[in-house]
Amino acid sequence: MIVGFENVGLTYEDGADVLRSVNFALKDGEFRFLTGPSGAGKTSLLKLIYLALQPSRGRLTLFGEDVTNAPRDALPALRRRIGVVFQEFRLLNHLTAFENVSLPMRIAGVNQAHYREDVIELLTWVGLGDRMDAPPQTLSGGEKQRVALARALVSKPDLILADEPTGNVDPEMGEKIMKLFIELNRLGAAVVIATHDLHLVDALGKKSMRLEDGRLIDGPAAGDRAGWKARA
Ligand SMILES: Nc1ncnc2c1ncn2[C@@H]1O[C@H](COP(=O)(O)OP(=O)(O)OP(=O)(O)O)[C@@H](O)[C@H]1O
Ligand SMILES: [Mg+2]
Repeated sequence: MIVGFENVGLTYEDGADVLRSVNFALKDGEFRFLTGPSGAGKTSLLKLIYLALQPSRGRLTLFGEDVTNAPRDALPALRRRIGVVFQEFRLLNHLTAFENVSLPMRIAGVNQAHYREDVIELLTWVGLGDRMDAPPQTLSGGEKQRVALARALVSKPDLILADEPTGNVDPEMGEKIMKLFIELNRLGAAVVIATHDLHLVDALGKKSMRLEDGRLIDGPAAGDRAGWKARA
């Protein structure tokens, strides 16, 4: 099992319960969409998996290890196996697109000779082959999103988390990005994608789960769109 949530609850300081009692298991090589209204807790749930937040209640496992109270010094090794596309990109402005994508490898102490081709290939694939030397502040929202995507993939992670990875790109690029996630999943990575884009979820026919009132429910809500019940 790649990720396990057992009765996980999350309460922000002086906030309401964002997650009440979340249970879910992501098995090796599984692909899941995570949907739910704005503010439902999708980003929070992904942050728990990435160990950027600790659960307030319950038990969390990652790659078969109990990480509910994982000590700080255990985090880098666990995180190296996870590729994340953050909702707000988190690119470093003083680095070029190429350097941003290279960063996980540099941090891991890998020699540039070993990843240079991969970085070029990834940036070319996301349509930024001619913008590799550009600093992020000179890129559009969609271009930044694609740099963040390339950065998440460069270390060939076992688990890929993406938070609204198609939020700033046109429908054609959105579909291309989603297909890339499916391809990565086919090659063995487990994938969790938080998205509002129910059309893409529908079109791709992958399992989805929905956050509602702090709880996780299988599939989209019945009222999400006409026709769901007829197809289900
Ligand atoms: N650091 C924080 N401190 C306190 N409350 C927070 C914090 N981060 C998020 N929240 C609150 O937790 C709830 C869930 O937020 P979260 O960002 O996880 O939702 P989301 O489903 O990702 O929303 P969106 O679709 O808009 O990205 C919201 O009510 C938000 O205001
Ligand atoms: Mg969010």
